[in-house]
Amino acid sequence: MAWYDAHAARYIARTDSFRYFRGLEQDLARFVELLQSDAVVVDLGSGGGRDARWIARLGYTVVAVDASLALLRQCLVGAAPTRRVLGVNADLSALPFAANSIGGVWACGSLLHLPRASIPAVIDRCREILRPGAPIGLSMKEGRGAERRDDGRLFTYTSKQEVHDWLASAGFESVTVRGPARNEWLLALAISPRSV
Ligand SMILES: C[S@@+](CC[C@H](N)C(=O)[O-])C[C@H]1O[C@@H](n2cnc3c(N)ncnc32)[C@H](O)[C@@H]1O
Repeated sequence: MAWYDAHAARYIARTDSFRYFRGLEQDLARFVELLQSDAVVVDLGSGGGRDARWIARLGYTVVAVDASLALLRQCLVGAAPTRRVLGVNADLSALPFAANSIGGVWACGSLLHLPRASIPAVIDRCREILRPGAPIGLSMKEGRGAERRDDGRLFTYTSKQEVHDWLASAGFESVTVRGPARNEWLLALAISPRSV
């Protein structure tokens, strides 16, 4: 997280507009189509808040979760006009939400910073906090292995099959994985079980 804290302004300048991510708005639209109208949506690893603002402008309440306090602050400042984005400074592996309380989880490019072995437990926890029938949207980068970049950030790459298996093993239903698109990004969508 040190890198994101130290480079928050530079990171936001590079990522805060959809014009740098062709196709991402279409992916967000696919996700929100699955939401109930009264959903509270959690944006996991919300970064500068580009996606949290997009979802909030549709009328949803969004909880932005990020371990980088510098990014979370900027996310909240940028999202203030929507009046619908709240922030939580938390780690992805310790999500502070009650079971069955959340109407949708969106995680764009955040789980890829976790070690591969930690990802299934986070996805399990997402299923636990989601209400029955609520969607999860995961964007992960396709590739092999993992790398620790010079700037200290870990990148864990994955495959369509692996993401599918993570979601299905956690009990998610109607799992689809599209892509790669947008520079090797995959989009996985799934629904939490309607009956437990
Ligand atoms: C590649 S950025 C993606 C940001 C945003 N979702 C976007 O698409 O622009 C990864 C984000 O995840 C956050 N992050 C990384 N590891 C995290 C962790 N273990 N717990 C919480 N947030 C984390 C980073 O601070 C950063 O905001």
